[in-house]
Parts: sequence; structure tokens; C-alpha cells
Amino acid sequence: MLLKFSLCAIFWIFQNALMAYSLHTHNESIHTHLPRPYLLADLDAKIFGGSPVAITSAPWQVSVRLKEYEIVQFGYGHICGGSVITTRVIVSAAHCAIYTNITPTVYRFPNDFTIVMGSVYLQEVTPYTLQYNVLEVVPHPDFNLQPLENDIALFFINGKIPTNYPTVSPIPLNRLALAAGLNCTVTGWGVTEQGITWPVLLGTVVPIVATAQCNNSYSGTIMNGMLCAGYLSTGGADACQGDSGGPLACNGTLAGIVSWGNGCAKPGYPGVYTNVSDYTNWILLTNSTFNYTRYGGALGLSCGPQQLMLLVFCLLNVLLWFRVN
Ligand SMILES: *[C@@H]1O[C@H](CO)[C@@H](O)[C@H](O)[C@H]1NC(C)=O
Ligand SMILES: *[C@@H]1O[C@H](CO)[C@@H](O)[C@H](O)[C@H]1NC(C)=O
Ligand SMILES: *[C@@H]1O[C@H](CO)[C@@H](O)[C@H](O)[C@H]1NC(C)=O
Ligand SMILES: *[C@@H]1O[C@H](CO)[C@@H](O)[C@H](O)[C@H]1NC(C)=O
Ligand SMILES: *[C@@H]1O[C@H](CO)[C@@H](O)[C@H](O)[C@H]1NC(C)=O
Ligand SMILES: *[C@@H]1O[C@H](CO)[C@@H](O)[C@H](O)[C@H]1NC(C)=O
Ligand SMILES: *[C@@H]1O[C@H](CO)[C@@H](O)[C@H](O)[C@H]1NC(C)=O
Repeated sequence: MLLKFSLCAIFWIFQNALMAYSLHTHNESIHTHLPRPYLLADLDAKIFGGSPVAITSAPWQVSVRLKEYEIVQFGYGHICGGSVITTRVIVSAAHCAIYTNITPTVYRFPNDFTIVMGSVYLQEVTPYTLQYNVLEVVPHPDFNLQPLENDIALFFINGKIPTNYPTVSPIPLNRLALAAGLNCTVTGWGVTEQGITWPVLLGTVVPIVATAQCNNSYSGTIMNGMLCAGYLSTGGADACQGDSGGPLACNGTLAGIVSWGNGCAKPGYPGVYTNVSDYTNWILLTNSTFNYTRYGGALGLSCGPQQLMLLVFCLLNVLLWFRVN
């Protein structure tokens, strides 16, 4: 009896030590675990003007994925970016939630998606990785594909992102009008100049472009609810496919959602984003219609890989403990 109990205790201590050790050694801010490290050297760090960022400088960044492709390989299902805005709410683009091959617009089921966050590595599960299922997807009711309008959707996850988590934290919503020239940062795992998806999170600085000027470039197709950012005359830095839904962060707040553009980083055509401050009321209202009581309260159920592992160990320990006594 005593032997069994001691064995169990030792096992438990060992598991926890192992987990603490792996948490300690896996430093998210240095990119030592690149699946394809040679790419960085090959590309001369000119990835639509982007360069790798530490997760701590974009802790709100998530990867929106389709489960059906995730089965093939972790990271294979990545379709869009998104941002954590509160412990159970992700904001992304509405065009990320539709079946792209069907017109008129048909939205996918919440169960089609999985949301991954907490790490810059697209294709790796690190001890910091958190993953959630989606309970509800709420696209803007006036979302329109042609022309693209009201490109915003909320994803409610089936769990609560732990507060004070080292690599995930929400981004506040911007509520100010942004002056042209303000330097903002767009991040994502989207397509680079070489036409491939990048395995680590990249970021690039883009200045806000005056809406009137942008509207000229795009021959009058910029609508209310959009904003533009990029280098109008030179191009060279932009978001691209796969970055959609991801954050444009200005002064530490969520100002834009990657939406569309004419090509990527082309001179004369800045990136077009959903203007978040135009939708704050809609976000708050939609959030208030989500039945938090029904889905485990504002706390929810946490089920990242780490939490699941811990839960299994805890249950095993409790079981063994009862058997011993
Ligand atoms: C991670 O690496 C960065 C850069 O090398 C360093 O500044 C930081 O202290 C490291 N963090 C931990 C937890 O080791
Ligand atoms: C974004 O929306 C806000 C609120 O409607 C507006 O004041 C602002 O001019 C818009 N555009 C930019 C670039 O901030
Ligand atoms: C934005 O960054 C560029 C390049 O670093 C700099 O020249 C410019 O002054 C910055 N703009 C503002 C408004 O800070
Ligand atoms: C852009 O230009 C078109 C055509 O002139 C106009 O209808 C539209 O309101 C303009 N967009 C904005 C945001 O002002
Ligand atoms: C940035 O944020 C700070 C406070 O959070 C505010 O005082 C400042 O005016 C903001 N700057 C811009 C350019 O919006
Ligand atoms: C959504 O509602 C929950 C529960 O009332 C609240 O904790 C959270 O801050 C809200 N989030 C947003 C983005 O309004
Ligand atoms: C929310 O869900 C709870 C539990 O399922 C239910 O009792 C309650 O009526 C629901 N509230 C609303 C406003 O639908």
C-alpha cells in the first residue's frame, strides 16, 4: 500500500517537474525551434517588409483553423488570424467564417473551427500553446462579400483563457480616430513574397493612410467601416492571404482587422482593414447576447493541451489515492 502510494507521489512530482522544466526552457522570445530554419536566411528578412515578432509583443494573436485540415498536420488548417479581446471572445473577419466556394454566402458551423494561440510557431505545439473549440460564430449581420463590407465576426470559445497567462492576453479596442501617418503593426502567418505561409509569426509596421486618399487609389470603393494602412507610394509592407482577420494594432489597441487589398504590398494600394472603432457598439451588443450562463459562465471550461494533461494526472492521482486507502 505504502509503496504504491509513494510510487504514485513520485510519479506525480516527476510529471510536474517535467512540465515546469519544459515551460522554463521553451523560451518563446527566441526562435530556436523553427521547423524549417533555413528559410530565414534564404529570404533576406523581406517578407512583405515583415520580420519575426515575439509572442509577448502580439499576445492577442490567434490562428483560426479548420479542423478538417488540422487532422492532416498541426498548422495545416490555418486559414486566418484573429485577436483575443476578452477571455472568451475572439474577433476576426467575417469572410474567414464562410465557405469560400459557395455563393450566396453560407457560414460554416462553429464546430468546423479550432482556435490556437499562445505561440509564434504555426506548426508546433509548445508548452505555451492553448487551443479551443468554438461554440458560436457571429458574423456581422450586414456582412457582404461583393463588395466586401462589414467584414467582422466574433468567435466565442468553449473555455476561458487563463488570466495572467504568460503568452496570451486580450487587446483593448481602439476608440479614437486615427491620424494619417500613425505607425501601426500588422501581424500574421500569412503568405509572404515567396508565396508560402511562414511557420513563425511575422509583423510589419504600416502607417495609417488618410481614407480620402485611399478611396482615390481604390477608385471610390472604400466604404465607411474601413480604414487603410500601408505605404501608398512605395508599397513593400503589407498583410496578405492568411493574415485575414488578424490584428492591426495601433498604440496597443485593436484598430483594424485585416480584410482586403489589391494584391499585397503593391505601390498605390495600401491594405484595407475593418475599422474596429466603427464596430465597438456591435461588438458589445453581440457579446451581451452570448449566453455565458449556458456555456459555463464567464469562466467556461479551459481545455488547452496543458490543462487536459493536468486534469488527467489529477484524476489518476485521486483514483490511485482512493484505491490505496
Ligand atoms: C528569453 O530570451 C530572451 C532573449 O534571448 C531573454 O531576454 C529572456 O530573458 C529569456 N526569457 C526567459 C524566461 O528565459
Ligand atoms: C474609423 O472609425 C471612427 C469611428 O467611426 C472614425 O472616427 C475614424 O475616422 C475612422 N477611420 C480611421 C482611420 O480611424
Ligand atoms: C513612423 O515610422 C517612420 C519610420 O520609422 C518614421 O520616419 C515616422 O516618423 C514615424 N511616424 C510617426 C507618426 O511616428
Ligand atoms: C469613397 O468614394 C465614393 C465615390 O466617390 C463615395 O461614394 C464613398 O462614400 C467614399 N468613401 C468614404 C469612406 O468616404
Ligand atoms: C496612445 O495611448 C496613450 C494612452 O494609452 C494616449 O495617451 C495617447 O494619446 C495615444 N497616442 C495616440 C497617437 O493615439
Ligand atoms: C462579454 O461579456 C462578458 C460577460 O458579461 C464580459 O466579461 C466580457 O468583458 C465581455 N466582452 C466584451 C468584448 O464585451
Ligand atoms: C441561458 O442558458 C440558461 C441555461 O441553459 C437558461 O436557463 C437561460 O434561460 C438562458 N438565457 C437566455 C437569455 O436565453
